[in-house]
Amino acid sequence: SAPTTTTTTTTTTLPSKPTMTSLESTDGPLFPASLISPEVIASLPTDYTIRPLRRSDFKRGYLDVLRVLTTVGEISEEQWDQRFDWIASRNDEYYMLVVCDGEDRVVGTGSLIVERKFIHSLGLVGHIEDIAVEKGQQGKKLGLRIIQALDYVAAQVGCYKSILDCSEVNEGFYIKCGFKRAGLEMAHYY
Ligand code: ACO
Repeated sequence: SAPTTTTTTTTTTLPSKPTMTSLESTDGPLFPASLISPEVIASLPTDYTIRPLRRSDFKRGYLDVLRVLTTVGEISEEQWDQRFDWIASRNDEYYMLVVCDGEDRVVGTGSLIVERKFIHSLGLVGHIEDIAVEKGQQGKKLGLRIIQALDYVAAQVGCYKSILDCSEVNEGFYIKCGFKRAGLEMAHYY
């Protein structure tokens, strides 16, 4: 009689279950939330959250936050989904996170891309990219928390260092985040 009972229960819960499953599979975190530093979570302003990027962050203003950094272009939701899927299929390489305010709007973001090398005994290097905090939210230490969170991910996944390129104007910010000037950036645009 036990299997019959189980079958009945499963049938009863079926209408809500597939919805949950498909939501999770299309809007799950880009990488495990356990890689987000507990210290950083605890030090955010009240009601603010920090978490891995999700597909639905398109609707929470992710791209608008990036506009404080540079040109983004007009990106449709379909194009966003395609790029998100490409990144999600490489989620041991792309670690993108967001800070949301109390109204669940994205107000800050940052990315860590993990490069796998032959040198330094198959060393891993973190590349910190696209750090942006919405204009009205700057100066609340959100940028610092984003960098600390990316540093934590880098250390957890085994990077021996993280590097980044920035303009002179932001040097002071990165020094406050524990970085130091090392080398010279060069670029070749195509
Ligand atoms: N120069 C010197 N010090 C700075 C600067 C700066 N440009 N910006 C912030 N700081 C200081 C703050 O005063 C603070 O110091 P304190 O601890 O003594 O109070 C500390 O750095 C931490 O500042 P936050 O409040 O965390 O900075 P914020 O949240 O405003 O974020 C950021 C800084 C990300 C640079 C933001 O201003 C921003 O989004 N700017 C526009 C986009 C941009 O330039 N992004 C960086 C591109 S480089 C890259 O992506 C690798």
